[in-house]
Amino acid sequence: MDKGNYSRVPEFVLLGLCSSWELRYFFFVFFNLLYIAIVLGNLLIVFTVISEPALHTPMYIMLSNLSVFDIFLASYATPKMIHDFLHEPKTISFEGCMAQIFLLHVFAGGEMVLLVAMAYDRYVAICKPLHYATIMNLCTCTGLVVGSWVIGVMHSLSQLAFTVNLPFCGPNIVDSYYCDLTLVIKLACTDTYIPEVLMLLDSGLMGATSFFLLLISYTVILITVRRHSSAAGMAKARSTLTAHITVVTLFFGPCIFIYAWRFSNLPVENILSVFSTVFTPILNPLIYTLRNKEVKSAIHKLKTQYVTSRLSSQLSLIRLDLLN
Ligand SMILES: *[C@@H]1O[C@H](CO)[C@@H](O)[C@H](O)[C@H]1NC(C)=O
Repeated sequence: MDKGNYSRVPEFVLLGLCSSWELRYFFFVFFNLLYIAIVLGNLLIVFTVISEPALHTPMYIMLSNLSVFDIFLASYATPKMIHDFLHEPKTISFEGCMAQIFLLHVFAGGEMVLLVAMAYDRYVAICKPLHYATIMNLCTCTGLVVGSWVIGVMHSLSQLAFTVNLPFCGPNIVDSYYCDLTLVIKLACTDTYIPEVLMLLDSGLMGATSFFLLLISYTVILITVRRHSSAAGMAKARSTLTAHITVVTLFFGPCIFIYAWRFSNLPVENILSVFSTVFTPILNPLIYTLRNKEVKSAIHKLKTQYVTSRLSSQLSLIRLDLLN
C-alpha cells in the first residue's frame, strides 16, 4: 500500500440506528433511561461488593469486575448514539472512529475472558470443592482479572494494527450507529479481502475459544451437579449456574449472529449490536443480583445502614426501584 499518495478521510458519517423522526424521539428517551439504568445498576453491584466483606470472595469480586466491563461496554458508543438521535449530520472523526473500534474490542474481549474465568471459578467450586480455597485464592482471582484486561488490550491492538494503516481515501459512510470494524474495513481503497479474513480470524478465534471453554466447563459442571443432585448445596449451585448460562448465552448469541450475518449484509445486525452493547450490560445486574440471596441481603444491609445520610437515602430509593 502506498501511503504517501492519498489524503485520508478526516471523518466518517454514521447512518445511525433509524431514520424516522418520530421513532428517534422515542429511542432518545428509551435509550437514555436504559443507559442510566445500566450505569446505576452496575455501580450498585460494584458498591455492594466493595462495601460488604462477606462478598469479598473470588466469585463476587469477578462479578463486580464484570459490572465494570458492562459500564464501559455500554459507554464507548451508546452516549454518542443517544446524542445522534437528535443531531444531524452524524459524523465521527477518524481518530474517534479508531478509538471506538479499539474500545469495543478491549471491553468485549475482556468481558469474554472474564466470563471464562467466572466459569472456571464455578467449575473449581463445584467439581473440586476440597481444593477450592487453595486454587481460587485472591491472588489467582487478581491474576484472572488482570489477565482479562491484558488479553482484551492485546486482542484489540492486533485488530487495530492492520486497520489504521489501510488507505481510507474516499467512501466514508458507515451504515451503523458506531464504527464497526467489519464495516469500516470495507471502506478502505484497496483490496480488503486479506484484512477482512485476518480480522474475522482474530475475532473469531477469540470468540470461539472462549465460547468452547465456557461450553466445556458448564457441561462438566452440569454433569457433576446432576450426579450429586441429592446434596443440599446443589440447588444453590444450580440457580447460580442458570444465571451464568443465561448471561453467557445473551452475550455470545448476538456476537455469533453479528459475525455470521455481517458478511451477508442483512439489516438485523444493527439490532443485534444494540443487543450486545445495551441489553447485555443491563441484564447482568438484573440476572446476577436480583436472583442472588447474598447480594440481595447485602443490598438490604447497605440500605438500612446508610438510610440517614442524604446521598445514600437517594441511592436507596434507586435501589428500591430496582428491587421492585
Ligand atoms: C476487580 O478485581 C480486582 C482483582 O481481584 C480487585 O482487587 C478489585 O477490587 C475488583 N474490582 C471491583 C470493582 O470489584
